[in-house]
Amino acid sequence: MATTSGFSRRKTYNFDQVFNPDHSQDDVYDGLGINNLINKVVEGYHATIFAYGQTGSGKTFTMEGNERELDEGRTSEVHDSLEDGITQRGILELFEQIQQTQKVEKGKHISVFCSFLQIYNEKVFDLLNPSSVGGLTALRKTQTNMSDTSGLRIRWTKKDQFVVENLYVFECQTHEEALKLFKFGSQNKILASHNLNEFSSRSHSIFTLTIETQDIKLNHNVTISRLQLVDLAGSEKQSLTGTTGQQAKESIDINKSLLVLRKVITSLTENNGRDIVPYRESKLTQLLKQSLGGNSYTLMIACLSPCDKFIEENLSTLNYAAKASMISNLPTKNVDPQMVQLNEIKKKVRDVEVELRQANDHI
Ligand SMILES: Nc1ncnc2c1ncn2[C@@H]1O[C@H](COP(=O)(O)OP(=O)(O)OP(=O)(O)O)[C@@H](O)[C@H]1O
Ligand SMILES: [Mg+2]
Repeated sequence: MATTSGFSRRKTYNFDQVFNPDHSQDDVYDGLGINNLINKVVEGYHATIFAYGQTGSGKTFTMEGNERELDEGRTSEVHDSLEDGITQRGILELFEQIQQTQKVEKGKHISVFCSFLQIYNEKVFDLLNPSSVGGLTALRKTQTNMSDTSGLRIRWTKKDQFVVENLYVFECQTHEEALKLFKFGSQNKILASHNLNEFSSRSHSIFTLTIETQDIKLNHNVTISRLQLVDLAGSEKQSLTGTTGQQAKESIDINKSLLVLRKVITSLTENNGRDIVPYRESKLTQLLKQSLGGNSYTLMIACLSPCDKFIEENLSTLNYAAKASMISNLPTKNVDPQMVQLNEIKKKVRDVEVELRQANDHI
């Protein structure tokens, strides 16, 4: 619940959990029940976690912790896991749960794959592909026309999904391998300082863990589920951030894709499915399609800035979070349909072979 002091109207919002500045990263992780969400991913469901709020409100801190400050040697030489965000904790939890599942359910073989992308100026870039990252950073530094870099294409698949073409995907055997990739990618993210945030995210990023489970006991059924960890760039007013030039252009694009995100949320909650949901209007909403009104479990974290000056932005964040909580997703297990079909055919062949043998015996 949130109230607005100093305003004649009192506003009330309902949420599953509310955290204040005294809560630790641990409290947030446990309070949000992320272990249950990860359990669902291991069972074969998609899940998405994203933080939403104005610039400087703590989205990156919530999703990724203080990794950057530690890297810069500002606060400590030693990595402090207490400062880890949901992503680092989630990676660890996922591998622990997989190990546990494989111990208990002997017939299950589970593989984990990682990918990491950023959407910058409405273009998709691979954070794990050094050549893509190098080119983009060089271009940005020299202030060359960004339209020269084309980014990766997004393709629409028959399974009603948007897929990024040619994205690097790495198989990880351990949580250390996944963490290393996450760290490598997050160092390649585009950040910039402005009045409200020294390390402001200038791109939206999505770290995806894909879990492929083959169940030998269940006729070799394969489920492919995804955990998407999203760090959005923040909505911002140029008058407050004081951005100019290239950064101002970034601001416009950041605000544009967030506008489409808000349009999608509004369309899903207010139009009762009558209108076409405008997923296609931005790359971000294309890639979050299953998370908003689709078959994924989704957790949205509304980040607020504890300062009266940001009351308007905070109310807007609360309004959209309240709306988003009314979206009904329909989580379904992602059993690979081709595999199911193949297994059914195999079973039929086996049945026919048995019948044939019996008929031959009879003759
Ligand atoms: N709960 C918190 N406790 C301590 N420090 C925090 C907390 N939340 C945010 N911060 C600090 O506030 C600053 C801004 O936070 P952060 O970069 O996460 O904001 P953001 O919402 O990602 O902004 P942007 O949209 O510009 O990327 C960072 O230095 C971060 O370490
Ligand atoms: Mg950020």
